[in-house]
Amino acid sequence: MKMKVLIADKFPEQYVQKLKDSDIEVIYNPKLGENDLPEAVKDVDCIVVRSTVVNAKTIEASNQLNLIVRAGAGVNNIDIKAANKKGIYVSNCPGKNSIAVAELAIGLMIALDRRIPHNVADFKAGRWNKAEYSKAEGLFGKTLAIVGYGNIGKEVAKRAQAFGMNIYAKDVTRIEGYGAKDFSEFDQILPIADVVSIHLPATPQTKGLFNADMFKLMKPGAILINTSRQDVIDEEALINAVKEKKLKVGLDVFKGEPEGKDGTVESKLRELDTVYVTHHIGASTEQAQNAVAEETVNIILHYINSGVIDHWVNRAKVTDAHYQLVVKHYDKPGVLASILDVLRQGNINIEEVENIIFDGGLVACCTLKIQTSATGDMLEAIRNNPNVISYSHVSLD
Ligand code: 3PG
Repeated sequence: MKMKVLIADKFPEQYVQKLKDSDIEVIYNPKLGENDLPEAVKDVDCIVVRSTVVNAKTIEASNQLNLIVRAGAGVNNIDIKAANKKGIYVSNCPGKNSIAVAELAIGLMIALDRRIPHNVADFKAGRWNKAEYSKAEGLFGKTLAIVGYGNIGKEVAKRAQAFGMNIYAKDVTRIEGYGAKDFSEFDQILPIADVVSIHLPATPQTKGLFNADMFKLMKPGAILINTSRQDVIDEEALINAVKEKKLKVGLDVFKGEPEGKDGTVESKLRELDTVYVTHHIGASTEQAQNAVAEETVNIILHYINSGVIDHWVNRAKVTDAHYQLVVKHYDKPGVLASILDVLRQGNINIEEVENIIFDGGLVACCTLKIQTSATGDMLEAIRNNPNVISYSHVSLD
């Protein structure tokens, strides 16, 4: 039977076709919203979304959903806990739109420094104001703090280095490359940063990170860019800081972003002269969308052809396995079952298992990650199996 894939967001036509050419039934409906999905998803095996929200109701309503591909980087629009409960794979396309997002972040920095949107709006309104718009400071030699040094943060650093900026970065991993220096504490960097650019995922740890206390630390008149997720900023605190400290702010994400692709928009940020908001377009260049779509197609085809999920985000990072049992055995029917039976009789829970074959197909190696230790009697029973060649049993703690 053909795999059924629902694409519930805008997706380049040639990649829709590529899926169809691979004998996949594709339903392409970019107009679907969060509330349409529970009905639309009922009989599909896979959904592809960009920012369309896949909530618990959708996941619960699905009868045969097996894979959700986020055609982009952030997976915060997918209820991963609900997917975990039904054993539905969630994967994404990391790094494929990083350059596009970095370009927008840099674009916003320049736009704020030179007030390009104001310049243009005045010109269109028939006003000439060279005197006013000649007051820009310039970015060369300015201190830039990059918060979040993943794929996007690094692309921002690469471009900022070419601008001659003094770059600092912060992440959970080591800071390397593009002349970026590590900063560990916000109270050291924010008072000296002329530009702060945020590139963090939305997680419980990053929610509201930029709050009133953080804004207090920032330099008056500094530029703040957020092209990541709205959740990382406390928007009320930001609005106060803009008023009190004259921060210049470039946002591609904000509270109350409309779900649809066009229509009206309401936000208190509209009233603030030094805040430029773009329409969540960070990833929306043709080259980035083609790269993301190609990766999405690769993920689906690789899964169909080999069962492997690339960029699988809801695989457990830590399991309850405390021991590893590796058994080399002749590749014959029933051998594996007899090993598993020994563990079953000992009431040992297997967390993960992999059985791979040596070239020639005679011998296989089975690696079992198990919760509790196998006893001497169990190991003896395994060793006594004439089809078992050898075993090892080690603690993982
Ligand atoms: C991402 O996480 O990849 C970006 O936020 C892009 O979102 P979009 O696919 O809705 O443009």
